[in-house]
Amino acid sequence: MHGFTLPCVSLAERMTRANKPVEDLTREQAAAELARLAKEIAHHDDLYYRKSAPAISDAEYDALRQRNEEIEKRFPDLVRPDSPSKRVGAKPEAGFAEVRHAVPMLSLNNAFTREDVADFIARIRRFLGLKDGDGIELVAEPKIDGLSASLRYEKGKFVLGATRGDGAVGENVTENLRRVRDVPHQLKGRTPDILEVRGEVYMARSDFAALNKQREKDGLALYANPRNSASGSLRQIDPSVTAERKLRFFAYSWGEISETPADSYWHFLERLGRWGFHVNPKAKLCKSPDEALAFYEQVAGLRAKLDYDIDGVVYKVSRIDWQQRLGMVSRAPRWAIAHKFPAEHAETVLNKITIQVGRTGTLTPVANLEPVTVGGVVVARATLHNEDYIAEKDIREGDTVVIQRAGDVIPQVLEVVKAKRPRGAKEYAFPTKCPCPLKSDAVREPGEAARRCTGALACPFQQFERLRHFVSRDAFDIEGLGHVHIEKFRAESLIDTPADIFRLHKHKAKLLEREGWGEQSVTNLFDAIEARRTIPLDKFIYALGIRQVGQATARLLAKHYRSLDRWQAEMREAQKERKKNPDEMKRAEEVGPHYAELRSIEQIGFGVADEIVEFFGESHNLKALEDLTDEVTVEDYAPPAAKKSAISGKTIVFTGTLTAMGRNEAKARAEALGATVASSVSKKTDLVVVGADAGSKAKKAEELGIEMMDEDAWLKLAGAPRGE
Ligand code: IVH
Repeated sequence: MHGFTLPCVSLAERMTRANKPVEDLTREQAAAELARLAKEIAHHDDLYYRKSAPAISDAEYDALRQRNEEIEKRFPDLVRPDSPSKRVGAKPEAGFAEVRHAVPMLSLNNAFTREDVADFIARIRRFLGLKDGDGIELVAEPKIDGLSASLRYEKGKFVLGATRGDGAVGENVTENLRRVRDVPHQLKGRTPDILEVRGEVYMARSDFAALNKQREKDGLALYANPRNSASGSLRQIDPSVTAERKLRFFAYSWGEISETPADSYWHFLERLGRWGFHVNPKAKLCKSPDEALAFYEQVAGLRAKLDYDIDGVVYKVSRIDWQQRLGMVSRAPRWAIAHKFPAEHAETVLNKITIQVGRTGTLTPVANLEPVTVGGVVVARATLHNEDYIAEKDIREGDTVVIQRAGDVIPQVLEVVKAKRPRGAKEYAFPTKCPCPLKSDAVREPGEAARRCTGALACPFQQFERLRHFVSRDAFDIEGLGHVHIEKFRAESLIDTPADIFRLHKHKAKLLEREGWGEQSVTNLFDAIEARRTIPLDKFIYALGIRQVGQATARLLAKHYRSLDRWQAEMREAQKERKKNPDEMKRAEEVGPHYAELRSIEQIGFGVADEIVEFFGESHNLKALEDLTDEVTVEDYAPPAAKKSAISGKTIVFTGTLTAMGRNEAKARAEALGATVASSVSKKTDLVVVGADAGSKAKKAEELGIEMMDEDAWLKLAGAPRGE
């Protein structure tokens, strides 16, 4: 039986009361009974969904819900705000198991102009080494504004469904996806034994409007747009709620698959249709980029008439062998791009300018607006970027402004409608002090756009933002430790630095004293923290919040240095070298070998490198890092299962011109074979591939006695001899 206890009510009394027929309950008894049921059902929901450890049978649980429903029917005015009848389906819960995608779920790079699309095509041509006459067939299809999902079929039978999550790990929402009408349970015809079909779950505009209308009637919070609504509806704990929500699914790609499904993406779409999936009927095979651009214009014109939201058109190289050669870079395929529709604009009044302080102390001005709907979303705040932006556009409080919203980007104030400026509106004076209680000076270094608070570690606003970043989804991902908690725990000095989060359990007694916190919520929080005590290296680096080190850079660092110990040791050395040689113009090699190695990582320029070494030059950062590593375990970088090859684990440098494949393709091939590609030759280089007209790098390799090979030998090694 369930171990739930209520104070001051004996078990016998509870049993009697619970058994009393609903018709016999007095008003007072009914109110007390509803309170009891709300608490009890919430408790069982928690056990079932979060702990996956139900204490009562499904039938017993249903009986509780049924009784709650009957009492509410008889006394509608007693329905509680926290009633279980309102809660189920109202709020998505974080109770899904994790699914690691066998093949990562990619996102798309964006193009905003025709030039961006031309660049995309040019990049592909270069990468594949295409000749002037070689055409590229593209499939163009509307970009649906929903959420992507992966459906796994084994021998044609639907066995697992997952959300995208962070691309590597998603949520297991199999039961919910089973209730999406367009998701076939059994595929038709012959299928690969293992087949993961990916696509977009979305809600039609008409279904969205009807759902919100009903929610308004029921006094529930409204969904902002069909995408949020689709996401909320798919992530429901109770699959029957998902079923009611009328979600739909368009299939458009594959994940793990036991055989190549087609020779072209266009034929793959045809096969998807034959297996029983819905494929967007608007998808078009275009013989040339111009045809694809014409399709874009046509779809843009149709946009308002479609019954689903779209935010652009996706172009995909149709030939699968080309897709395979092009591969991906930083979580997006090279063979596809999203051509986004232009941003939407609206006019509204800017009531007030406030200042936000970021985790590195940057002061960002924010426009607080009279709420306005832009492209189906209510916008009440927009970024004003920085001090110069406000001055340049002469933006003042009280002004009527034009705002822009484009996809997921934070809305921004574009311009002022000067004709509507109220009399007496004053020029905005950007603060020179941090708005935090310490009021530290906010200074602007020469050449920098941002003004920064000088309070560093002492500034409570920065501390707060750093912690928030630390626990955020792409970093430590500690669910249940939201910003409200962080603020409170900080105020009570329970958390000061990131490491304190992992020592929070020492304050259990203090937490239990807090109003509204029971044993259960404290345990939930501790469990969520414990679950994150082990973290992959790239997420750890990202969580540190070093300026300019976003997820992509953190991944590059993790991939290059492999372990936290090595990274830390190398960065400390690089910092010493840089301190001795602060000259900006100095070449990385002249600064020192460790600094040069950091800079040799492709895409790490001197700006980012200097931010990293500066971080390691601050003793308080080193202390915080040490403190943190005492608490958590950082996993070494696990390279994706690359083919075992003659060059696995080796460091390669390409130099000179390669004729059969572009430099990027060569790099991608080498990485796929398990090698690391560096841009400069050092003692750590294992192999130098020498193309035509090679210069100093080849010479250096010779001096250092490093193994060298010509292009033909490389092509053979890479499994792509000439003529492929
Ligand atoms: S292809 C490798 N095709 O857009 C395949 N994505 O911004 C990557 N999306 O995560 C996705 N419509 O959720 C593809 N026709 C379409 C799409 C589409 C919508 C979404 C998808 C993706 C996001 C990237």
